[in-house]
Amino acid sequence: MTGEVLFSVREVSQKLGGAQILDRVSFDVHDRTRAGQTTGQIIGILGPSGVGKTRLIRIIAALDAPDSGSVVGIQGAPIEPGQVGVVFQDYPLLRHRTVRSNLEVAGIANGLSRAAAQGRAKKLLDLFRLGDRGSYYPAQLSGGQRQRVAIAQQIVCPKRLLLMDEPFSGLDPSALEEVMHLVVEVANMDELNTIGIVTHDIRAAMAVSDTLFMLGRDRTPDGKWLPGARIQETYDLVERGLAWRDDVMELPAFSSLEKEIRQKFKQL
Ligand SMILES: Nc1ncnc2c1ncn2[C@@H]1O[C@H](COP(=O)(O)OP(=O)(O)OP(=O)(O)O)[C@@H](O)[C@H]1O
Ligand SMILES: [Mg+2]
Repeated sequence: MTGEVLFSVREVSQKLGGAQILDRVSFDVHDRTRAGQTTGQIIGILGPSGVGKTRLIRIIAALDAPDSGSVVGIQGAPIEPGQVGVVFQDYPLLRHRTVRSNLEVAGIANGLSRAAAQGRAKKLLDLFRLGDRGSYYPAQLSGGQRQRVAIAQQIVCPKRLLLMDEPFSGLDPSALEEVMHLVVEVANMDELNTIGIVTHDIRAAMAVSDTLFMLGRDRTPDGKWLPGARIQETYDLVERGLAWRDDVMELPAFSSLEKEIRQKFKQL
């Protein structure tokens, strides 16, 4: 892969409750470029339930420390908590605040003035097609709407690296499509933006990502899992001609890669 390395996960290991969860997980994210177009990065991290995806996200976001290994940004600079936006699996919004206020609070917490935060919240509500839901409370939203607010909340003050844990779960097909478009749109707002998506949804991950990483454990010859997950496979979708295309899901190469990935998934 070419392009400057924007961040690297280097030999990250983590043990929890006496069990090895992550075992020297390593990968690099490169600046992917296209002539004449601003192209952020989208990486998909796939892997079976319980393999360690959420733990890995927490380490990348500097919310947890690994037992060994490191995560570094551009030119090896360490990543500090607060430099990475995270949309968690259960997207916690403040229950007693309206949608608009949730966005404003996020802006103020990140150093915007009240007026700037209000302006930004309004813009994002429109962009995320939530303009008529600003005065609703989180409990009054659908799952897809809540998911969009959670993403909006993370880009009130956009960070170069935004990690999303299962952003596609619990969405109906049209909400799924909206969230997928949104992810691409947010990534492409800046050449150096990177969005990392953790998901079980292989098709959705393939459709939006430029690179896929498969996290999984090794097995013994008789099929027993060994402890500790590592990157089992990297799929460069740019190289395969499967990145940055609206019609990508209709390509035969998409279906055959999807099959290959599903097959691989079953072995993990
Ligand atoms: N605090 C903890 N103490 C002990 N074990 C833990 C702890 N937190 C997580 N684990 C274990 O670590 C493993 C990885 O958990 P993680 O939440 O990262 O999985 P995941 O890949 O995100 O799964 P899912 O797709 O279901 O969200 C799981 O087997 C889990 O039981
Ligand atoms: Mg998880």
